[in-house]
Amino acid sequence: MPGVFVSFEGVDGSGKTTQLELLAERLRAQGRDVVTTREPGGTALGQAVRSWVLEAQAEPLAPRAELALLFAARAQHLQQVIEPARARGAIVLCDRFTDATEAYQGAGRGLGAELVRELDRLICGGARPELTLILDLDPETALARAQTRLRRAASGENRFEAEGAAFLRRVAEAYRAIARREPERCALIAASGAIEAVRERVWRAAAARLGW
Ligand code: TMP
Repeated sequence: MPGVFVSFEGVDGSGKTTQLELLAERLRAQGRDVVTTREPGGTALGQAVRSWVLEAQAEPLAPRAELALLFAARAQHLQQVIEPARARGAIVLCDRFTDATEAYQGAGRGLGAELVRELDRLICGGARPELTLILDLDPETALARAQTRLRRAASGENRFEAEGAAFLRRVAEAYRAIARREPERCALIAASGAIEAVRERVWRAAAARLGW
C-alpha cells in the first residue's frame, strides 16, 4: 500500500496532539505501519530548534531568525524522517507542518503569508501532506485550555499562548483561510465537545478522504 502523509494543525489547546495519538492507536490496531512525529521536533536538529523557539532564551529570537530555523528543521525532518517513512509505505502522522508557519509566523507574528510560502518553495520544495486535519476551536476556549495545561506542565516551554488572545485569533483565522483556500487537502474539524466525539469526526474525515 502506498505511504501517506497526514498533518494535524490547530491553535494551542485545540486537542490535536491527543487526536493524533488516538488516530495512531486506531490505525496500529488495524495492523498499519504508523509513524508519529512532530514539528518543531522529530530530529535532533528539530529538537534544538524547538528549545530555541519555545524556551526562554537569553538572546530572544528575531522573528525572521525564528522563521529560518523552522524551515531548516523542516528540511531535515522531510529528508530524514518523513520521506523515508512514506516511501516504505508507512502512514506518517505529523503534529504540525508548514501551515503552522503560515499561521504562527505569517499571521501571528505578522511576517506575511507570502514570505512563508516563498521560503517554503525554496527550502522545502513546497512539500505538502496528502491530508491536513485542522482542529478548529474558538481562540478563547483554546486559550483557557492551553493556559490550564501550561500551569500543569513543567516542561519549561514558553509556548505561543503567552502571546495572548489577539495573537491566537490571528492564528485561528489563518488556519480557516488555509482550509478555504485548499479544500482538497484540508479538512476543518470542529474541536469542541468530548474527546470521543472529536475522535469520531477525525476518523470519518480521514477515512473518507484517504479511502480507508
Ligand atoms: P505544540 O507542540 O504544542 O504544537 O507546540 C508547538 C508550538 O510551536 C506552538 O505554539 C506553535 C509553534 N510553531 C510555530 O510557531 N511555527 C511552526 O512552524 C511550528 C511547527 C510550530
